[in-house]
Amino acid sequence: MKVCVVGTGYVGLVSGVCLAAKGHEVVCVDSNSEIVEKLNAGIPTIYEKNLSELLKEVISLGKFHVTQDLNEALKDVSLVIVAVGTPSEDGVIDLSYIEHAIKEIGEYISKIERFIAVVIKSTVIPGTTDKFIRDVLEKYSGKKVGAFGLGMNPEFLREGEAIFDFMNPDRIVMGYETSTTLDLLEELYRPWDVDKVRVNTRTAELIKYTNNFLLATQISAINEIANFSATLGGIDIMDVVNGVYLDKRWNPKVNNLRVDPEILKYLIPGCGFGGSCFPKDVQALRSQGESLGLPMKMMNAVLDVNEAQPHQVTKILEAEILDFSKKSILILGLSFKPDTDDVRESPALKITKDLIKKNANLFAHDPVAINNFKMSVGLEASKIKFVDDWRGFINQVDIVVLITPWIEYKELFNLTLNNQIIFDARRFLPYDKVAYGYYRSIGLGRR
Ligand code: UGA
Repeated sequence: MKVCVVGTGYVGLVSGVCLAAKGHEVVCVDSNSEIVEKLNAGIPTIYEKNLSELLKEVISLGKFHVTQDLNEALKDVSLVIVAVGTPSEDGVIDLSYIEHAIKEIGEYISKIERFIAVVIKSTVIPGTTDKFIRDVLEKYSGKKVGAFGLGMNPEFLREGEAIFDFMNPDRIVMGYETSTTLDLLEELYRPWDVDKVRVNTRTAELIKYTNNFLLATQISAINEIANFSATLGGIDIMDVVNGVYLDKRWNPKVNNLRVDPEILKYLIPGCGFGGSCFPKDVQALRSQGESLGLPMKMMNAVLDVNEAQPHQVTKILEAEILDFSKKSILILGLSFKPDTDDVRESPALKITKDLIKKNANLFAHDPVAINNFKMSVGLEASKIKFVDDWRGFINQVDIVVLITPWIEYKELFNLTLNNQIIFDARRFLPYDKVAYGYYRSIGLGRR
């Protein structure tokens, strides 16, 4: 099947390359000539595990190419997937990139006789596809839905694991407004033998938001209990969670063995969630609910806890550091999570800001995210010294704050340390090897 994907960001590029790897003929569209040139030369424009190899493979098979010209890309295509960004503007999603894309698609539809289905993959609030997108497409095509197709097919890709997640989805949600669109989506996803959810487009949109909201809720809930444990004292949150995790509803046994489901990975106490999805999606749904006159109390609470959580790091350190200006601190990890160079909404942004305010002598390391971090903090970056060799540098500082659980930081406890304070903001370091004398963390109530 020939498919057009508009947008080559994390979602568009991964979707395009994976659909091509499953045998479809994919043309991606991007307005940036530099991106188009690089991708056609097999050079990924984002950092994503296994993307480089797969991109080269689909190009060499003649299954994938990128163009700036939407009209050329839509030639002979019966399904176009829109996967452009929906950035957040004061907690509300900005639809201008989508609007631009669908206007052009609408104009194209006005000129053709054949049927084409427009499927939205970008994350949009419930009702967007069957109202805003429908209206724009109908206006610019001069036709009604039915003469063209309309669908919504949300993604559930984790950054860093996006290729794996696309190739091995838990389910595929196919939102549709016309049965012909559903038929095309069935054909597109035929190579995937997984559960398929067939619903209207606003249900598809809400499935995506609910999924992220529930995961974010778990994280804020456990962080609140972690802060409670630390304040009450005499409790380590890890003893609490390890006791709770044994409940069969979190971790059932099959053949007498624990399943250890993935959901437990979203119950780890820490310095809060970040990234381009959880914060933005919960804010967007809250804002939509409020505009409908609903109080959205849960979403407010989840966001409030998360907003405050990175500040716990400095707050806990303050209990024993009187003058931060006399201390040198090494930050380990700047990206919002490991295996990505993305720093959007990373707790590291807030934690470094707090420490800069306190005049700490700040050093930082990240395996891949230093450049993005510098761009994100702007002038403040000059107040941080970035180091390449964190292992070699570690004994030159008084405090180490581990923010992003990159696997290489597990080595911390194999190094000979100078009794500096190690602040593990992710409960990441091997629990049984922790020497309490210099280990500090979230949710660790002093005994
Ligand atoms: C998330 C979802 O997991 C994907 O299913 C979804 O498709 C994607 O958003 C999206 O909406 O596009 P992602 O943002 O890439 O994916 O990252 P996650 O691995 O889910 O982590 C999100 C944040 O939660 C990270 O900052 C992570 O450090 C944090 N987290 C995770 C915690 O603070 N505590 C935990 O226990 C688990």
